[in-house]
Amino acid sequence: MKILAIESSCDETAAAVVERKNNEPVVSVLSNVIATSLDIHATTGGIIPENAAREQVKYIIPVIIEALLKSENIEASSAEDNFKNAKNILAKKIDAIAVTYGPGLVGSLLIGVETAKTVSLTFNKPLVPVNHLLAHLFANFIQSTTISHKLSAISFPLIGLIVSGGHTDLLFFDSLTKYKWLGGTRDDAAGEALDKIGRLLNLSYPAGPEIENRANEFLKLNPNRQLLNAKFHSPMIGSKDFDFSFSGLKAEVARFVEKNNNMDEKIKNEICFAVQKAIIDVLVKKTVRAAKMYNCETILVGGGVSANQTLLEELKLTTKSQIPNANILSPEKRFSTDNAAMIGAYALMDYSPRDWQKVTSTPDLYFD
Ligand code: KG4
Ligand code: ZN
Repeated sequence: MKILAIESSCDETAAAVVERKNNEPVVSVLSNVIATSLDIHATTGGIIPENAAREQVKYIIPVIIEALLKSENIEASSAEDNFKNAKNILAKKIDAIAVTYGPGLVGSLLIGVETAKTVSLTFNKPLVPVNHLLAHLFANFIQSTTISHKLSAISFPLIGLIVSGGHTDLLFFDSLTKYKWLGGTRDDAAGEALDKIGRLLNLSYPAGPEIENRANEFLKLNPNRQLLNAKFHSPMIGSKDFDFSFSGLKAEVARFVEKNNNMDEKIKNEICFAVQKAIIDVLVKKTVRAAKMYNCETILVGGGVSANQTLLEELKLTTKSQIPNANILSPEKRFSTDNAAMIGAYALMDYSPRDWQKVTSTPDLYFD
């Protein structure tokens, strides 16, 4: 089965064509196109919803056309030919349409959802609405070209950790479609905390990748991890639940920055290391505890923050001693941040089309 997937929940306008063969738990990506308005948001240090929606309108049709053409290896030519070819592919090669219906920014979501409904109706294709958060975990079913994924080793029950710019959640999956929410952040998400702390330190936006690079720089000069100046608490690390809270960490860093107004690069790197450590320590501790409590040997991690190599290394290191047969998966980097292939992957793994009239953008969608 081949699906055209559309994702427009935030500042990325994305379309992809994905395929699943013989009911195997493996999703192949035939094309994956992303237009981002990140440059615009970098100038404001965060996303202004109105700006994001305006950019979505500009990109949605060109991105869909490009994804369709690429899926069949057709070179782009004149606008008229591109449109004709895309229509042909849609009619003849695509079995269904998948779209993110939430959570996200209302203006951005609407553009993807209404476009998907129109395409579904016009071309008479089933429409599969997809929860963006679950899709971050299902990105792990995408066959990777750069990492050796042990997809066949994904076994249930499993634990899912979603760590993105907007969400931090722990889920227990009994099977592919039967899951339970264990806990999540009570305030800022892990990625949000990194981005806000990045702003305090004048780092690039989004700050996650720069914080990771700076933490690595600190480690190079301090292999024994000795913190001289900055030390922050790992929030809620001792609590018995599976909840998180990261807004206090941001406040702690703000106080530190206020007191040290002459910060050189070395101190900035140290702060980045300390912040990253505080966040990773609690994520790893609660994820591994959940896996042990629910007898899970598979842990799926997804969302933009799962691009963080230190998080994955620490998760692997901790499970090694506590769950010897653990299989920890995270998507290839390009499928961990927002993309449409993960939306298609979800739709292929849990194929549940709905009447287009019943599909509506749901900005505050969470878990069922
Ligand atoms: O999943 P995502 O693309 O968007 C949402 O659905 O929110 O996640 C974006 C988040 C940003 O907060 C960004 O700073 C963070 O992912 N991020 C990282 C890394 N790359 C992106 N955080 C830590 N380390 C990284 N390498
Ligand atoms: Zn996301």
